[in-house]
Amino acid sequence: MTSKKNTGFFITLEGGEGAGKSTNLEYIQNKFIDTGHEVLVTREPGGTKVGENIRELLLHARDQSISDDTELILMFAARMQHLNEIIEPALLRGKIVICDRFTDATFAYQGGGRGIPDERINILKQWVQQGREPDLTLLFDLPIEQGLERANNRSSPDRFEKETLVFFERVRKKYLDIAEREPNRVKVIDSAKTSDNVHKQLDIILDNVLDRL
Ligand code: TMP
Repeated sequence: MTSKKNTGFFITLEGGEGAGKSTNLEYIQNKFIDTGHEVLVTREPGGTKVGENIRELLLHARDQSISDDTELILMFAARMQHLNEIIEPALLRGKIVICDRFTDATFAYQGGGRGIPDERINILKQWVQQGREPDLTLLFDLPIEQGLERANNRSSPDRFEKETLVFFERVRKKYLDIAEREPNRVKVIDSAKTSDNVHKQLDIILDNVLDRL
């Protein structure tokens, strides 16, 4: 596993709309708290004041059109602030950082969904992350229709949730491609299963991590 500095542990949660990241976040967090670890939970886009303002713009821009490249750069602008202000200091203090979405979401949504080439995303990634990578990524995977149904039952759709099924199929495919390419870092959770079963899947992965911390 790659990590910029050998302290703390950086976990990211990924997946399509309504795939179960947020539902399982508390379960994941408690596994670390219960074993005496200090945990910081955060999210992207967001996690800082500036980042949350960028999130509001990205998710709820009403009468403003946002070009695909602007969207990409805004994601990384929020990420830069988040890394500097929150994530890097917490990891330096040895914390377990659990981040609801990170750069895999950019490859999936802006890359797979919007069609921006990986090479262009990688330029920003290298600039912003300076080698920082998640130590573990939990990818919650669910058929698109099921996920959107769950997401739409929760609240009125945001700018991304209004996208087409074809867009979300491309997002899902990109996530699964990343998981196939990086099986050591990215663990796929079958979210179509019952919540008990999902917890069991998480136990296997997280108990293994806890053994090594
Ligand atoms: P959330 O619904 O999981 O809070 O995520 C907010 C939305 O932002 C979600 O639709 C995915 C999108 N997103 C991107 O398109 N690119 C990114 O890099 C990130 C972090 C999120």
